[in-house]
Amino acid sequence: MTGRVREDSTPAVGNGQLRSVQALLLPLFSRYGIRLLLGFVSLAGVDLLQLLIPRFLKTAVDSLSAGTASQHSLAGISTLIVAAAVAAALLRFCWRYLIIGFSRLVERDVRNRIYAHVLKMDRPFFEKHTTGDIMAHVSNDLAAVQMACGLGLVSAVDAVVMTSAAIGFMLYINIPLTLLALLPMPLLAVSTMILTGRLHNRFNLVQEQFSLLTEFVRSALVSIRLLKAYTMEGLQRNEFEKLGRQYVRSNIRVAVIQGLLAPLATLVGNLGMLMVLYFGGRFAIQGTISLGDFVAVVTYLAMLVWPMMAIGWVISLTQRGLTSLKRIHNLVTTAPVLQDLPETETPVPAVPSFRLDHLTFTYSQAAHPALRDISLELAPGVYGITGRTGCGKSTLAKLLVRLYPVPDRTLFMNGRDVNTMSLDEVRSRIAYVGQDAVLFSETIAANIAYGLPEATPAQMEAAARAASIHEEILALPQGYETVIGERGVTLSGGQRQRLALARALISNRPVLIVDDALAALDVETEHQVLRAMRTSGRRQLILIVSQRIKLLSETDEIIILEQGEVADRGQHQDLLARSAFYRSMHAKQAREGARSAPGNAEVLGQ
Ligand SMILES: Nc1ncnc2c1ncn2[C@@H]1O[C@H](COP(=O)(O)OP(=O)(O)O)[C@@H](O)[C@H]1O
Ligand SMILES: [Mg+2]
Repeated sequence: MTGRVREDSTPAVGNGQLRSVQALLLPLFSRYGIRLLLGFVSLAGVDLLQLLIPRFLKTAVDSLSAGTASQHSLAGISTLIVAAAVAAALLRFCWRYLIIGFSRLVERDVRNRIYAHVLKMDRPFFEKHTTGDIMAHVSNDLAAVQMACGLGLVSAVDAVVMTSAAIGFMLYINIPLTLLALLPMPLLAVSTMILTGRLHNRFNLVQEQFSLLTEFVRSALVSIRLLKAYTMEGLQRNEFEKLGRQYVRSNIRVAVIQGLLAPLATLVGNLGMLMVLYFGGRFAIQGTISLGDFVAVVTYLAMLVWPMMAIGWVISLTQRGLTSLKRIHNLVTTAPVLQDLPETETPVPAVPSFRLDHLTFTYSQAAHPALRDISLELAPGVYGITGRTGCGKSTLAKLLVRLYPVPDRTLFMNGRDVNTMSLDEVRSRIAYVGQDAVLFSETIAANIAYGLPEATPAQMEAAARAASIHEEILALPQGYETVIGERGVTLSGGQRQRLALARALISNRPVLIVDDALAALDVETEHQVLRAMRTSGRRQLILIVSQRIKLLSETDEIIILEQGEVADRGQHQDLLARSAFYRSMHAKQAREGARSAPGNAEVLGQ
């Protein structure tokens, strides 16, 4: 990846950039207008005061050389200079507070907007953009925008005011001398612009490598146990060292340019000074300008070096800010693939049902459909879904929960095309336990309560009992108040799934979809859990993805998927009679059951 330069080195201010400024920044400029105005007035005040100091100096020097200076007049002038410097310092504090504050407010507002938007995004989006990617881009881009709106803006205004005023004062003193002194200056602006452009590209590389490095550490830490289990620490260390070396190399490349900038400025500034000393000295000897004018020109010239560099720097900062702003704008205007609609007034009947009508679904990155031409009616009842790994069971469950977009008129809930309903309308009726249980790094009680925020301890306990996890929770150090996850107790895969199941059960939603979450239970507990699911609350439609015959045999109907298609459906006995796949699964599990627990053979063989 070394040497890769992102598209943002293009200097052109494109259409998209203007649009993003309009959409994201203009409203903020007007919201914080007064703050900005005050800030710029203070900034102009600082510049003015700074420019007055050489005038005072000139008066002092002239009076000295004319022999009219007295202790008293000199003291007066020095007091003026000190007063100007103090006032400038106060005003400098004001503009920094106001304008840098403005840039932080802009950063905050844009960040809030990004966050609100990212929360609205759906699975397909998060499959395309990894967490590390989003985090790195958002923080880098935000930083670039903040820089452009803060120091960039200040430097631009400052440079323009200072340059024009200093040049104005110099011209007022002596026009030919000013032109001679300024001769080397454009060189400084142009070379700074080129160098900072370079600097910016190299700096991007540094940031990219830094995000690679952090993402590397993050993913290693997340899977640290796996890493140790496979004794991959050595490999990881080598890889990490390689990344570290690249990071240092890029940083040094940045330092090279940074190191060039200051000497360059001094060199060019001194060239200008050479001109002033040579020609200005001559003019002073000839008496074309006074000694005071000579001193003033020297001071103004020294004051010009920084604004000249700033112009080059500001151009590159602005380019950077604009490209970042455009990227942010693209992000916040990316609509979720899953289009949400406002909730309609039509109340959904209490009895939920689904109909799939020739539903074919392909993941956006996949070559082949994961589900093909599925037609199913799911009326209230208990359904088992089974089939080989990869046949599409989880996909089917996720489509019902509306985690991925489906084509129009292929999936209906209570007779209504789900694409005409709001996402919440569908999701709020479904309790879903995914294959990988999602738990938060909070207490067990809080995790269960995600299903029903107002749940009482008694309700939680009932749900935990129904999910057959209550006893295990009590055995934990702080019971229901035990914190789990990264900063707490680690639960086993089966415990996590049952906890997620308890959360689903307490929500008391009419549809319950459980994706392979009961696999870690023993047969007896599994049976209890299913019974609890059937009898608890107003649950009407239960869908259980499972590979276990015993569990499947207790459902009302079993659907067998094969390579994304419905291969067969029916009741346990019918399928035993006609489905070769089901029979072989049955035979295999009966054998395994017999081997592990002889007493179970009869149960399974019934
Ligand atoms: N997010 C995804 N992106 C692309 N392909 C996927 C994704 N999830 C699953 N698949 C593919 O879709 C097919 C069905 O997967 P899945 O529904 O998880 O199967 P099952 O749950 O039956 O094991 C598999 O071929 C799998 O590789
Ligand atoms: Mg699955």
